[in-house]
Amino acid sequence: MIVEAKGLRKQYNGVWALDGLDLAIEEREIYGLLGPNGSGKTTTILILLGLTEPSAGEVRVCGHDPVREPLAVKRLVGYMPEKVGFYEELSAFENLRFITRLNGIPEGEARQRILEALEQVGLKDVAHRPVATFSHGMRQRLGLADVLVKKPRLAILDEPTSGIDPEGAAQILDLIRLLRDEAGMTVLLSSHLLHQVQRVCDRVGILHRGRMVAEGRVAELTAPGGFVAVLAQASPILRARLEAAEWALAVEEPRPGELQVTLAEEGRPELLRFAAEEGALLLELRPKEPTLEEIYLRYFRE
Ligand SMILES: Nc1ncnc2c1ncn2[C@@H]1O[C@H](COP(=O)(O)OP(=O)(O)OP(=O)(O)O)[C@@H](O)[C@H]1O
Ligand SMILES: [Mg+2]
Repeated sequence: MIVEAKGLRKQYNGVWALDGLDLAIEEREIYGLLGPNGSGKTTTILILLGLTEPSAGEVRVCGHDPVREPLAVKRLVGYMPEKVGFYEELSAFENLRFITRLNGIPEGEARQRILEALEQVGLKDVAHRPVATFSHGMRQRLGLADVLVKKPRLAILDEPTSGIDPEGAAQILDLIRLLRDEAGMTVLLSSHLLHQVQRVCDRVGILHRGRMVAEGRVAELTAPGGFVAVLAQASPILRARLEAAEWALAVEEPRPGELQVTLAEEGRPELLRFAAEEGALLLELRPKEPTLEEIYLRYFRE
């Protein structure tokens, strides 16, 4: 686990901003921390970075404790804050140069990395323009370049798409995916827009009043409603047949020898026929629990 937090609590003036949060993120994962305003996303991020201390709980980021070793964490983690600040009178290039100096990256290599980062975020043509002339979307992309020049193991992005039009947001999300795929970076991003970020996240967690109310793989989001069946005495052949079946939307092995199948309501007769034909023992067939999306909507409507 590259990020591991257990029982995190944070109190501000008598109010619990985080109230027992557990979080575990695997290397190379893109994890989306979702939640309405004030649910604790930024507080979680600040704790992971060692920028604020938890009132209780345990945290490890890249194997280090951000409370005791904030510098070690800062070296390995790239951070894009909610409100990115730049030196307005300096150019994009000069702003990034400031970052590379701060991180002790040698001049020659820094130049290379800066140009590469600006190219990646589509700001190469305006590299020498003062940031004061940049639009909000350009600033967000420069914020991402800030993270890129560091080539961190873990990138923590607080609302990277906020205030950006859908097309610009899609570009930023594509870039985030590229970072994981090509540079092997792990990404933690926060957002309050499930629909926007779900296509790049491997997993999402939904925060509500400082607690994780739901967590899961995004693949599960796309199988709304429907049913879950559990088959016993499962063999690899049975699994392969299930995976090939059109009505089986997802196949998992929760315990050795058991297969859990997600299916739409219309798939039930097919499942029963399959179980009979294959001689598989059907242990359970029940309506699926609410999807992450349903949970998300429930909390966001409040
Ligand atoms: N420095 C602070 N002092 C006092 N209260 C704070 C402070 N920072 C956050 N809070 C409170 O903690 C709670 C969680 O805030 P946080 O900023 O973590 O939420 P968030 O999920 O990032 O929200 P948003 O979507 O608006 O960015 C809120 O109730 C907020 O008012
Ligand atoms: Mg926030």
